[in-house]
Order: sequence, then C-alpha cells, then structure tokens
Amino acid sequence: MNIGIIGSGGREHALCFKLRQSKIVDKIYCIPGNAGTNLIAENIDIKIDDFEKIKKFSIKKKIELLVIGPEKPLVDGISDYFKNSNIKIFGPNKIASKLEGSKTFTKKICKKYNIPTSKFDIFENKDNAKKFLTNSIFPLVIKADGLAAGKGVYICNTISEALTAVEEIFDGRFGKADCILVEEFLKGEEMSYFIVTDGKTFKPFQTAQDHKRVGEGDVGKNTGGMGAYSPSRLINNELQKKIDEKIIKPTLKGLKDLNCDYVGFLYVGLMIIKNEPFLIEFNVRMGDPECQTILPLLNSDLGEIIDACCIKKLSSTEINWLNKKSLCIVLCSNGYPDNYNKDIKIKNLNKIKLDESSLIFHAGTKLVNEDIFAIGGRVLNIVNVSNNFSESKKQALNILKDINWTKGFYRKDIGYKVISK
Ligand code: AMP
Ligand code: GLY
Repeated sequence: MNIGIIGSGGREHALCFKLRQSKIVDKIYCIPGNAGTNLIAENIDIKIDDFEKIKKFSIKKKIELLVIGPEKPLVDGISDYFKNSNIKIFGPNKIASKLEGSKTFTKKICKKYNIPTSKFDIFENKDNAKKFLTNSIFPLVIKADGLAAGKGVYICNTISEALTAVEEIFDGRFGKADCILVEEFLKGEEMSYFIVTDGKTFKPFQTAQDHKRVGEGDVGKNTGGMGAYSPSRLINNELQKKIDEKIIKPTLKGLKDLNCDYVGFLYVGLMIIKNEPFLIEFNVRMGDPECQTILPLLNSDLGEIIDACCIKKLSSTEINWLNKKSLCIVLCSNGYPDNYNKDIKIKNLNKIKLDESSLIFHAGTKLVNEDIFAIGGRVLNIVNVSNNFSESKKQALNILKDINWTKGFYRKDIGYKVISK
C-alpha cells in the first residue's frame, strides 16, 4: 500500500526508514519530510495543518494510510477530519489527543480513575493561584494547560519563581490561558514508556530515557531532546505490570467512557519512585528523539503493526525486539534552543560511511542540489545499536567527530546514568 507520513523531524525520518523495510508498503510520501526522508521516500511540500490539501493529495496518489508524527495535527483533529474517508489514520482523534493537548484533562482522568500522579490543583485566575502559592511548600511545579512545545513547565524552588510562572502563563506566553496547574514536585527518576494500541488491546512499545536539558549533566534550558537511550535502566517485569494495570488500562477505559477508541502510539512520561510509577504526562505520539532510538531495535514489520492498529487487529500481531542497547545523540545548531542560524551547509555529511549498526536520522535539514543544509535547531540524530551502551555511545561519538560540523554542538554525556566512567 501507499503510505503518507506527516511531519519533518528525526522521528518522521526514523518512521520512514522503518516503513521502507515493510513488506506491505509500496510508495511512501513524506509531508513535508526533510533531506533524510528525501533519500528513501518522496517529499511533498504541503503544510501539516492544511488537512484539505493533504486529503486531496492522498486521494490523488492512492495513499491508504497516513501516519501522523507530531502532536499538533492530532490535537487539531486530523484523525476526525479523515474519519469518513477511505484513508486510515494512525494517530488518535481530537478528544483522545487532549491527553497531550490539555494537562488538566489528563489530571481529571487521573483523579476519576485513581491513576497515580502528583497531587494537583487547578486555578482559573491569577489571584487564586497566588493566594494558594503563598501558603505552599516548595519546590512545586507550575504548568500551562495547553500545548507549549515542552516549554510550559516551571519547576519552582521559591515563591518568587512561582509568582513569575503564574504571571507569564496567564499573560499568554504559551497562548491564551484559561487555567493553570499547580503540582506537587515528585522526586524520583524519569522513564518514558511507550505503547501502541488499536483501541481494543495495547502492546508495550519499548522504554527509553531522553535528556531534555541542553547542557551536560542535565543542566540549562529545556530542549526538544538532546539524546536518548533505550531501554531504560528502570524497567522490570513488576514495574511494567504496575504501569499497565494502574496507568494504561484505566486511561484507555477513561477514553472508552468518553466514547473514544485510541489508535496510535501513546507516550507515557513517568516518574519512578521506589519501583512505583507516577504519571507526569502523556504524549499522543512517539517521542523525538526516543523514536529514533527505539525503532532500530524493532525486529518486526512496522507497517504491519501500524496497519493492524488501524484495522483493530493488533492482538494477533507480534512485536519483537532485538536484545540490544540503542543510544542516540542529537547534533544541534549553535545557539539552540535559543536563536540559531539557518541555511548552514553540513559539508562532510555526504562522505560519512556507516556500518550496519549505525544510522543517521535527519531532523532540521534540507537538500539543495547535492548539498545538505541545516535549517532547524535539532539537525541530525546519530544512532548506534550494540551490545552495551558504552559501545553505542563510542560509535555515535566517532561519527560525530567525522561529521566535524563546526557550526553545531552536541552533548557528550548522553546515557551517563547507564554508562560507568
Ligand atoms: P512535562 O512537559 O509535563 O513532561 O514536564 C516537563 C518536565 O518537567 C518533565 O520531564 C519532568 O522532568 C519535569 N516535571 C514535570 N512535572 C513534574 C513533577 N510533578 N515533579 C517533578 N518533575 C516534574
Ligand atoms: N523527547 C520528548 C518529546 O518527544 O516530547
């Protein structure tokens, strides 16, 4: 079948790479894609929020299935838009996407279905929030309700930081704010847990740990993700069972009660405290760079898995994984996550020779004639799969040395918690 992939990041290049290997996939169109997807599929220059154009194009090119990479079109209802068409959509509908699109929606589900998460309060105006904060014990966490590209979360150690957060959120820094969330600060270790579901059953889809902060040692500003490793060191059978029973099943039941079947990947952001899972957030898609890190470990046909979800046959589909360790380092443009230059050539990229354990997934890149130019903050994802994290990191760093891109930077400590010095 012909497939369309919506998005242009490293996640979408990784999806494209894996779908290219699928027995059931013929032609792949990436809307809009990047210089990496261009090598293995056809890039189509349509904006990801132009659902009408995407639909017309899909009909014209006989696309049978659309895989939605990023959250924005899902939250904006792309699945609902295609509902009565013959085109299958891999990604949840608008209501289910509120799991990511509205943090208060998720917290309300947690409360109703007794899902373990931090204690919280919701405030609808500055005065009430400030009054509450004056009597609070710190640290605590303040969050904007809606999509904020990973930036709407403030970890506050003092009342003055908290008051600033309240002001900034209600003043519209992350879009119009009807309310804010004030949460208890959870102290533990984070883990990202992924599942894939057809709305009837779900299957685990690996674990990972990303590094969100820009600086080595996990300091500095938050980013989209500077690197990741998979699997997480925290996962074990007992923990997996607790996550499935206490978090995933009640959440899917909550959505069912809203008359909604969730089809797609679900990213479960957790804080693990003494082998107990607490929900921090849901994302209604794969993570980026977790997707680039996890998919090279997949030893089954991604096209079959995705198609099985769309036709509600996941229960009879096997998902197997290599028993190996994957690590991904993100090469960013100097200045990221603040201002960075665009249209900078990455000279050596065409000369890099990879062995079969390594992959380079493009993110913010574009092809001009034969040359590759950086056009985004996160530019390339260097992934290696091997028998141990130390070796994977060594190989990824070697590739970065060969790329030797003086206009970029990367963290050299990705995976430090799983790699002894
Ligand atoms: P979120 O966008 O909700 O995932 O939050 C971004 C990051 O903030 C998370 O990855 C955590 O590192 C941190 N965080 C969010 N909520 C909490 C919490 N309740 N306790 C501790 N850390 C948190
Ligand atoms: N790596 C974090 C995210 O995809 O949201």
